[in-house]
Amino acid sequence: MDIVVGPKDGFSERIAEYLNLTFVPLHRRVFPDREICPRIVDAIKGKSVLFVSRTSGADAFHPNRYLIELYLALTNLKSLGAKELNVLMPYFVYARQDKVFREGEVVSAKAVLDLLKNLGVKRFYTVTAHMQREEGKLRFYDEMECYTIDGFEEIGKYIKAKYNPENPLVLGPDLTASSGAETVAKVLGISESSALEKFRDRDTGATETKGELPELNGRDVIIVDDIAATGGTMSKAVSMCKEKGAGKIICAVVHPVLAQDCLNRIRNTGAEFIGCNTIESCISKVHVEKKIAEFIKQHS
Ligand code: R5P
Repeated sequence: MDIVVGPKDGFSERIAEYLNLTFVPLHRRVFPDREICPRIVDAIKGKSVLFVSRTSGADAFHPNRYLIELYLALTNLKSLGAKELNVLMPYFVYARQDKVFREGEVVSAKAVLDLLKNLGVKRFYTVTAHMQREEGKLRFYDEMECYTIDGFEEIGKYIKAKYNPENPLVLGPDLTASSGAETVAKVLGISESSALEKFRDRDTGATETKGELPELNGRDVIIVDDIAATGGTMSKAVSMCKEKGAGKIICAVVHPVLAQDCLNRIRNTGAEFIGCNTIESCISKVHVEKKIAEFIKQHS
């Protein structure tokens, strides 16, 4: 790869720095009717590009806006003569719909990857994909080189450095989070982790969380998940831990989507709430740029 193209948000620049590549800014122009015009003024001809598409939870979260920006920017890069296109989308938007849950639905995760493939993208990188928590090639899609990079290890390192908790319970709020909980526990030097079980009503979206927790008697708890969207999953797990007498509770997610009232919902439980900077937000404390760059160096 020759250059990193992305918005001037600090994140793209650091990816370029860690990869020892030149950073080329994407200028974001928004017209009064809210249509966007991503502009690139540097020379692109003949260059192999890594395009960074990082979403933001700072204002209302608009996955659609980032998708159209990605589409327009890649189209732009092609017409400017880019030799090769690669995409880094730290939070894989639309990935949660990774199968048909109800008849008549679209598999939106595949539709996004099809879009990129049809634009000629060679490699796609993301962090902790919803459909595959294990780092490496994404098994979900084999029509393009796709990779998922683990974000839980960085969460573990951050918690160790900042809080250094003594013998905490590391908990996944549902079974799909159990491997993330194991990774965080391992970084903290704990041999065991635990996970609750969540059941979702596919029609209403309502969830129910079940599972046995030990008596906590003031013990600290770290609850880890890939995403906090509405915060419902996390806050239920926090309540269950409090009922068992937990001490300090830290909620840590790879992707702080922070939809609706998520931030207050979790903060109102009294728990600390942190996330990775795969999405720009006020709780994005865990930096993953170095880890991403190291992975890309080995897989490009
Ligand atoms: C679901 O399977 C995910 O791993 C997360 O638990 C979920 O996306 C969190 O959503 P919410 O914050 O809306 O409960």
